[in-house]
Amino acid sequence: MGFLNVFRHKISSTTPKTKETIQSLWKLEKIILDSLDFHTVVQKISDSVLTELGYLDLGYRIIVLTLADKNRNVLNRVSLSQTPEAAKAQEASAIPFHKIDIPLDANDNLLIKTLNDKKPYVTKFWPDIFKPILTEQQALRNQAAAGIKTSMLFPVIVRDIAIGVLIFSMVKDEKDVTENEYDLIKGYTDVVGLAVQNAKLYTSLEETKKKLEFANTRLKELDKLKDDFVSVASHELRTPMTAIKSYIWMALNKYGAIPIRSAIDTKSAKSKYKLPEDLQKYMSRAYISVERLINLVNDMLNISRIESGRITLRLTQTDIVQLAHEVKDEVLTKAAEKNITINIKTNLVHRVLADRDKIHEVYLNLIGNSLKFTPSGGTITISFSEKESFIYTSITDTGSGINKKDLPRLFTKFGRLDDSYVAAAESGGTGLGLFITKSLIDIHKGTISAQSQGTGQGSTFTFSLPIAGTIAAQTLKKNAPRETTDTKELEKTSINFV
Ligand SMILES: Nc1ncnc2c1ncn2[C@@H]1O[C@H](COP(=O)(O)OP(=O)(O)OP(=O)(O)O)[C@@H](O)[C@H]1O
Ligand SMILES: [Mg+2]
Repeated sequence: MGFLNVFRHKISSTTPKTKETIQSLWKLEKIILDSLDFHTVVQKISDSVLTELGYLDLGYRIIVLTLADKNRNVLNRVSLSQTPEAAKAQEASAIPFHKIDIPLDANDNLLIKTLNDKKPYVTKFWPDIFKPILTEQQALRNQAAAGIKTSMLFPVIVRDIAIGVLIFSMVKDEKDVTENEYDLIKGYTDVVGLAVQNAKLYTSLEETKKKLEFANTRLKELDKLKDDFVSVASHELRTPMTAIKSYIWMALNKYGAIPIRSAIDTKSAKSKYKLPEDLQKYMSRAYISVERLINLVNDMLNISRIESGRITLRLTQTDIVQLAHEVKDEVLTKAAEKNITINIKTNLVHRVLADRDKIHEVYLNLIGNSLKFTPSGGTITISFSEKESFIYTSITDTGSGINKKDLPRLFTKFGRLDDSYVAAAESGGTGLGLFITKSLIDIHKGTISAQSQGTGQGSTFTFSLPIAGTIAAQTLKKNAPRETTDTKELEKTSINFV
């Protein structure tokens, strides 16, 4: 083998570093650690000793950094000094510099030996550091072209692991390397280890960041596409569904059988035409199903607007008690069907600042739920109270109640509870109502909560809205999502509760 163990006499030396060496190391450290980009850092590693410290004058010509690439299982040459000698070696080389990858198991290669032994070596014979990639002849040709006499190899060690090898090639003999030079090179390889590790981490972090940013943009685009699709699809679906519903209603009406939710009361048919009983049953079921579909599509449309931030508020001073009476009138038939009484405790309260249509929807959802989950003969009570700048509206029923452990889940999407599954299945709920309700109250800067002593004990839902003219109302006015040209187009398709 054409290599010697380097600096046998110097390795044992414990001479403290001279002031000059320490200063030089500081200088190098500053230069290398100044940048975090991997390619810049490795290039600086190959250049700074020669240019900044004037090692060219000391006979050093080429510094090469090689790093172990565990994925490819090779020792890869990553940077090379920008000197005429290095250029000549590259020119003469049969294989381009960056492609000279030494397999990590090439144990007769001196670079691999340096890596494995974690010890410095020296050679005057370049085939030692090029085999098996270059032939002896090719390696010697490179060496001759560069005019290199001796190459010193130093392991780059980070936390006791050799991550690569630094090659210092000189036009002088190993015996002419002074103790100061040796000390500096030794100290330098430690700095190099740290700098490479930092740069690698930073660069991979930057790459991950870029990938994440890209993925995030893509997700946003997809999310918007989804929102647009849901918005358009639900809107388009509503029109034919509403037509189907109207035609079924007309057909049933013509034969005196106005559909009501539970069953069609055939005896009450007033028309002289009689629809066969089974046909009436089929049609009324179709009617109820299409009604459910319309509700679902409305919910989807609503959610897509809420989630894409396209919902806007048309704030007016609203009489919340009067609105409760209007909604009560709307649901009276349903309540009568189930023999449920609705009481409104009309006490004088201030007007609230709110989007009337949206609060109308909130009422419909909450009273609708109470009607759905309260058995026949029950009562629903709507009451009001004022606290600070808000009016609290409570809707209390004597219905199935809610298990305490389920309360936190109520306002989530598809938050249907197992206990109410049967009732909900009968009435065709999707579990979106309270999610939408909460979102609508949220954008009004109000709160909503549910209380229940447990199953069978009834429930109370309470929501708050800012009193018109208060600071809370002013804040809402200032921050509320307003109509823009973008949203205007969508508002045209505003939700009608069919
Ligand atoms: N007044 C109530 N009494 C008992 N349980 C209720 C009441 N209101 C809501 N819940 C429970 O909360 C669940 C979620 O209500 P939500 O209004 O979100 O959905 P839904 O009524 O089932 O369906 P949707 O409103 O979408 O048609 C209900 O399925 C029910 O389990
Ligand atoms: Mg509901």
